[in-house]
Amino acid sequence: MSVLARFLPRRGVPTLVVEPMRRRHLSGIYPIEDVSYPKPWTPTVFHSELQQMAAGHRSYLVAREGTEVVGYGGMMIAVDEAHVTNIAVAPAHRRRGLATRLLAELAWDAIGRGCIGLTLEVRVSNAAAQALYARFGFEAAGVRQRYYENTEDAIVMWCHGILEPPYRARLRDLCPEAAR
Ligand SMILES: CC(C)(COP(=O)(O)OP(=O)(O)OC[C@H]1O[C@@H](n2cnc3c(N)ncnc32)[C@H](O)[C@@H]1OP(=O)(O)O)[C@@H](O)C(=O)NCCC(=O)NCCS
Repeated sequence: MSVLARFLPRRGVPTLVVEPMRRRHLSGIYPIEDVSYPKPWTPTVFHSELQQMAAGHRSYLVAREGTEVVGYGGMMIAVDEAHVTNIAVAPAHRRRGLATRLLAELAWDAIGRGCIGLTLEVRVSNAAAQALYARFGFEAAGVRQRYYENTEDAIVMWCHGILEPPYRARLRDLCPEAAR
């Protein structure tokens, strides 16, 4: 499917909206979180992250169609680096380019804040997420052993040079809808 075709309104389906996460979205986020991760974030964690966002230290977005939350993602801002902390899409809406849209919006946000790089951790078993991140130019930089549940290793991935024109061009190619 072409990038543009993915975002064309489907008959009877409300247009996709990507906007800052708010407390009112949380009831739509929890079921996605619960089916997406072996150890989902609790409501307390989401509330804490939203407080950090209000203080300017985080950025969280939701993707919704009408009132249905279909995905979300966010990052922690640490001086000139942005650490992607969470990104998930409802199972029925995967492979529609929603995570690509969310990650592109987050990357543009990080660029707007003057961050020079993006980083994250991903489970060694999570091939889907690793494939997504590779498209954005993330590369494996190390392993945190037994990072998840004291059992599974995390791959630490980095994406450098995001302020540079070639990276901005890559982002525009990946997701024209998010381009700034
Ligand atoms: C990983 C996840 C966020 C991807 O969301 P998505 O909206 O389906 O991703 P996109 O449609 O934007 O996919 C972009 C690209 O990523 C890769 N990709 C995504 N899902 C994939 C899968 N299941 N298998 C292989 N590649 C995959 C593909 O290259 C895909 O491009 P294509 O569809 O043109 O082949 C989603 O599978 C999810 O919510 N997983 C559970 C939560 C999670 O693991 N989050 C990451 C934590 S580190």
